[in-house]
Amino acid sequence: MRSNDSQFKSKIGLIAATAGSAVGLGNIWRFPAETQANGGAAFLLIYAVCVLLLGIPVMLGEFSIGRAGGSDPIGCYHRLSPDKKWWMIGTTGIIASYLILCFYTVVAGWTLEYLTQSVTGSLYGEVSADVSANSATFSGIMTENISSAWSPIINTLILVLITFLIIIAGVQKGIERVSNILMPLLFVLLIVFCVVSLTLPGAGKGVSYFLNPDFSKVTMSTVVNALGQAFFSLSLGMGALMTYAAYFPKSTRLGRTAVTVSIFDMAVAIMMGLIIFPAIMSFGLEGEQFEGASLVFVTMPEIFAKMGGTQIWSIMFFTLLLLAALTSVISVAEVAVRMFQDRFKFSRLKAALCVIIPLIAISPLCSLANGPLHDFRILGMDLFTLFDTVATNILLPIGALLMCIYLGWFAPKGLMYGQLSNHGTFRARYAGLVLFIIKWIAPLILLTILVSQFL
Ligand code: PHE
Repeated sequence: MRSNDSQFKSKIGLIAATAGSAVGLGNIWRFPAETQANGGAAFLLIYAVCVLLLGIPVMLGEFSIGRAGGSDPIGCYHRLSPDKKWWMIGTTGIIASYLILCFYTVVAGWTLEYLTQSVTGSLYGEVSADVSANSATFSGIMTENISSAWSPIINTLILVLITFLIIIAGVQKGIERVSNILMPLLFVLLIVFCVVSLTLPGAGKGVSYFLNPDFSKVTMSTVVNALGQAFFSLSLGMGALMTYAAYFPKSTRLGRTAVTVSIFDMAVAIMMGLIIFPAIMSFGLEGEQFEGASLVFVTMPEIFAKMGGTQIWSIMFFTLLLLAALTSVISVAEVAVRMFQDRFKFSRLKAALCVIIPLIAISPLCSLANGPLHDFRILGMDLFTLFDTVATNILLPIGALLMCIYLGWFAPKGLMYGQLSNHGTFRARYAGLVLFIIKWIAPLILLTILVSQFL
């Protein structure tokens, strides 16, 4: 039996931690950028279908294996099918999570830099009265912040240290407690920004861009992107939710939990859309093409520079980003920490050190990949892009695909139904449909996505 600290204490804490993993930079910058690149509301609609049709069933799969196995991803498969090689699926999860950890901490470090510069005001030091020049100013600052050698590394390491401290405090006193504080704060900030953005003059144009679908822009790649976004945003395919599910009490209803977490995750993405598009239209920035980083690090500061109370809004916004990033980083780190604890019987401190010490060496390399090491390339990609691409585009779908094949075809009979119905204590009427999706639909779609990347 696990010690007391290997279980979430309260229902709210469990939801806060799990939603904390899901809600991250994926929702806050990747979602609006993808939406803009893929035809606005049409993308939103396809994304919502992906979450409902595939995201929730796959999340239920991870929850089932995690709670039934009660261990790290390798340990879960090992316990459930001891004489087989299925534990190797867990290995892909651990590798994917570690790769994500390496570059996600770098991006989280940028948010820390922007927060600091918002507090000191240096971010807005060179804002000019000629507002059209500000885009170039903020682009310059972003290049400087991301590609200089030292400051991003220092910020990344501060973030790694914070993560380490939270992790060693334990599941209840660290992860759960921090999530209980940060997630409500994140929602308050989001609501404030929504109200402000929606009441800007001309906000309606942004709302209608975001909510009126233009299906002419939809192609096969829109669907592939929407699905990739759904999986990344829900933290699927790399064992983070499996690891957290190992901390779910026996009485937790997995169906309700998956639906609640997915609703939170989607709500944050939609709220970000309702914040960003009206603000962009209202301030006449719709001509700019945003991709990931420049949306939050160039366009948003440009908007704040035009608003009264520039620094306050900026501080609030980058706090929001940092909170979202931090709770996700914790969940990604926890995968490998749990693995060291369970596989090698290390103490939590020792396990956390095993995860963090290599990170202190590798994350700075990912950071330097945006600057001095930009020309160091493997398979044509710098290290940062390589880690992101291998983890997000290859390992996550492979992990999810193999998990579905395992659950649908090879897992012990009744494993998933037993978990979904808490061993028959209530009827999980939706279980048949979920199993059907896991067995047939999800593997086919995931395989298509995987193959399409190589075509
Ligand atoms: N879901 C997180 C986000 O939206 C990212 C993440 C991916 C976290 C995988 C954990 C595991 O940013």
